[in-house]
Amino acid sequence: MLVFATNNEHKLREVRQMLPAGVDVRSLNDIGLHDDIPETALTLEGNAELKARYVSERFGGCDVFADDTGLEVEALGGAPGVFSARYAGPGHDSKANMEKLLSELQGADNRRARFRTVIALIRNGELQTVEGIVNGTIALAPRGTDGFGYDPIFIPDETPGRSFAEMTPDEKNAISHRGRAMQALKRIL
Ligand code: IMP
Repeated sequence: MLVFATNNEHKLREVRQMLPAGVDVRSLNDIGLHDDIPETALTLEGNAELKARYVSERFGGCDVFADDTGLEVEALGGAPGVFSARYAGPGHDSKANMEKLLSELQGADNRRARFRTVIALIRNGELQTVEGIVNGTIALAPRGTDGFGYDPIFIPDETPGRSFAEMTPDEKNAISHRGRAMQALKRIL
């Protein structure tokens, strides 16, 4: 059994599709852990590790992995980064987050950004971390309706002129930060 420290059904489905069929992936719901796991670290690495350790310590040292993602914008010194979910306030409001980012970048020449996902894996009590990165630019205005979070304003270098929100899930997974971090996880499993 390998626990994925999430209750996000969308992520869980994605991960089950990506890992070999023999890997028995369970969510926090599946193992009956309903705590609000603290994400108080100041880095993606720190938060991923915090979440993985929290679960492992409560479930007899079980094997577990946890992820944390941030959008890192060059002209903003890497912000919103680890605070991406709550950039415009505690409400986790994607529209407000995008509006804030677009207004911070108003008039900026440099719109370079990257999504970075860190996955912390604890297996047999040992911690390993992997990451996945997709480089791109922040659009001038939202484009497309699919996806979530900052998808409508992120244009990956691989698809000039098309945002993540204008892609099918398969197209996005093939180049995304999370997809790449999952590939890296697969290699060490
Ligand atoms: P989490 O660590 O996966 O919960 O991601 C933190 C925040 O980053 C989310 O609340 C979103 O705002 C943003 N984010 C993470 N992954 C994506 C993505 O694939 N597209 C757009 N935004 C994302």
